[in-house]
Amino acid sequence: KHIDLDMNMVTKGEYEHFMLKEIFEQPNTIANTIFSHLSDNDDRIYFEGLEELKKQLSKARRIIIVACGTSWHSGLIGEYLIEELARVPVEVEYASEFRYRNPIVREDDIVLAISQSGETADTLAALRYSKEQGATTFAVCNVYGSSMARECDFTAYTYAGVEIGVASTKAFTAQVAVLTMLAIAMGVENNILDDNRAVALITELRHIPELVEKTLQTDKAIEKIAKEFLDVNSFLYLGRGINFPIALEGALKLKEISYIHAEGYPAAEMKHGPIAMIDESLPTLIVGTNEAFYEKIVSNAQEVKARKGTIVAVVNEGDTELAAMADYVLTVPKVDELLQPILVAIPLHLFSYHIAVMKGCNVDQPRNLAKSVTVE
Ligand code: G6P
Repeated sequence: KHIDLDMNMVTKGEYEHFMLKEIFEQPNTIANTIFSHLSDNDDRIYFEGLEELKKQLSKARRIIIVACGTSWHSGLIGEYLIEELARVPVEVEYASEFRYRNPIVREDDIVLAISQSGETADTLAALRYSKEQGATTFAVCNVYGSSMARECDFTAYTYAGVEIGVASTKAFTAQVAVLTMLAIAMGVENNILDDNRAVALITELRHIPELVEKTLQTDKAIEKIAKEFLDVNSFLYLGRGINFPIALEGALKLKEISYIHAEGYPAAEMKHGPIAMIDESLPTLIVGTNEAFYEKIVSNAQEVKARKGTIVAVVNEGDTELAAMADYVLTVPKVDELLQPILVAIPLHLFSYHIAVMKGCNVDQPRNLAKSVTVE
């Protein structure tokens, strides 16, 4: 399954940039990741050491997720998934903050590190510290044989392939896919998730690669919308529930590659600060795919409109209410709320990509950023 790839052998092919190529590879990378951990014949999920982990899980009081950057965002999504499906308390930490603040880690904690490279210095240090305290360590990473994979008790790989673009895209969605499967497996093990719900989620997950493909077909429409925002100074991204971390991720991507300031916020927190900034010069991107809080999201959008803010809304296919209020609409296929982050990430990543390219930025190697931060 693992092929050593010389980085120089990876080419952009027909694509103008690695980032775009990597975004378009996602139907395959997500399928590889899902089907490496899922059996063809039944709906069982496999991970290396899952049996051992299950034993730990029954004793585990909590899971601590440590990560940096985009991987930290998948950690936040993991928190929603694991708490919802398995009812195990989860804390998500920036690895850099965690390692330097004398954190409390106990033997019955499971520490889960999420990292594309498996080499990020802060995440590795957080992991080593946790190991010293006797916690069970688990890595979700993309690079076979990386430091984290070697040093952790267990590793669940993402099979996203080599990622060259500094800003992570396909590794992120693969991480979310792994975390979704881990949460389902834990939920079944803990007798929280009944078989019907587990099978329904797995069945929908099997179709995600096709739906990713379908979402990618909206690229031209996204590019057209992106063109309207080349001169803005700042962007607000709002999301709720499991899509709140996606708002953070969308904002991070815009900052990283287009150098436009952007801030991700939980939609309901808008009234505690960012609303003061909204006027015709500050556009807002609202993720409005959640069914659970749909009306609340619509009312957040009304608040933005009332202050003459421009709205870009990400909505489900068939949406009418939010789509009618928004100035620009990005559409994703409708899926179970817990599976939405993977699909919503696609228009957000593409939106940033097109803005950055049209602004003449070097999207594959943004200034001052490194693919893997192995120094402090
Ligand atoms: C750097 C990269 C990001 C990445 C982060 C964490 O900042 O530019 O794209 O998300 O490191 O990297 P990791 O390899 O640990 O996921």
